[in-house]
Amino acid sequence: MCAMTVPKFMAAKQQGRKLSMLTAYDYAWAEIVDQAGVDAILVGDTLGMVVQGNSTTLPVTIDEMIYHGRMVARATRNALVVVDLPFLSYQVSPQQAIENAGRILKETSAAAVKLEGGVSQAETIAALVRADIPVMAHVGFKPQSIRTVGSMGKIQRDEEALLNDAKAAEDSGAFAIVLEMVSRKIAARLTKELKIPTIGIGAGPDCDGQVLVLNDMLGMSPGFSPRFLKKYADLHGVASEAIRQYSEEVRSGSFPDDAHSHE
Ligand code: KIV
Repeated sequence: MCAMTVPKFMAAKQQGRKLSMLTAYDYAWAEIVDQAGVDAILVGDTLGMVVQGNSTTLPVTIDEMIYHGRMVARATRNALVVVDLPFLSYQVSPQQAIENAGRILKETSAAAVKLEGGVSQAETIAALVRADIPVMAHVGFKPQSIRTVGSMGKIQRDEEALLNDAKAAEDSGAFAIVLEMVSRKIAARLTKELKIPTIGIGAGPDCDGQVLVLNDMLGMSPGFSPRFLKKYADLHGVASEAIRQYSEEVRSGSFPDDAHSHE
């Protein structure tokens, strides 16, 4: 398998090849995800929730994204590594965005950054692309706008607003775009009208690719079961049972046994 690049990622759409993307936040999981053969790994600012335990992504800092991005990029041989620009690391000005996105590319070896916004971030996307920093845009439900929107995971149905956002991102030079919580019909239209790949999460099967949060699709967060999420494993159950059994064996003295002891 040859290493994924931004041009190859874009070409997949013309070739009619669907793109698979998952998040990862550290070396061990990135190695598993990469070797399993996904096209792209997103070091998402969801790490603020699934790794740090916050209720939103807002507290995540650029230094934390770089810390996690470096671990993921170190483990990845084939997938395209994309690192999220966290809240208020790019909204202040295009110059702030170039400085922070530049740090991500220089300090992590990731291939690209992702930011939330279409029309509102058009100038910033264009400035990043002029600075040779590939940008994946993210429209629809935008978790960094939670304080304005009011609740997590609201389905976006304003077709013209979504079309304007998606076109603004494409026209500004984004190489791909995440569609989060967009109705299936609108996601299908955007996918047809855009030349760049659309990567859906809660946006139905007609997108050019899909992304899920690794911890969610592996069943590590048992209380989180939105309709769009398919759980491919029950790691919470498997890990809990292994840890319970270990504790029981330590307490009963059956671990370590002879087979696990040195002469
Ligand atoms: O931060 C993240 O993990 C994301 C995905 C939900 C697309 O943006």
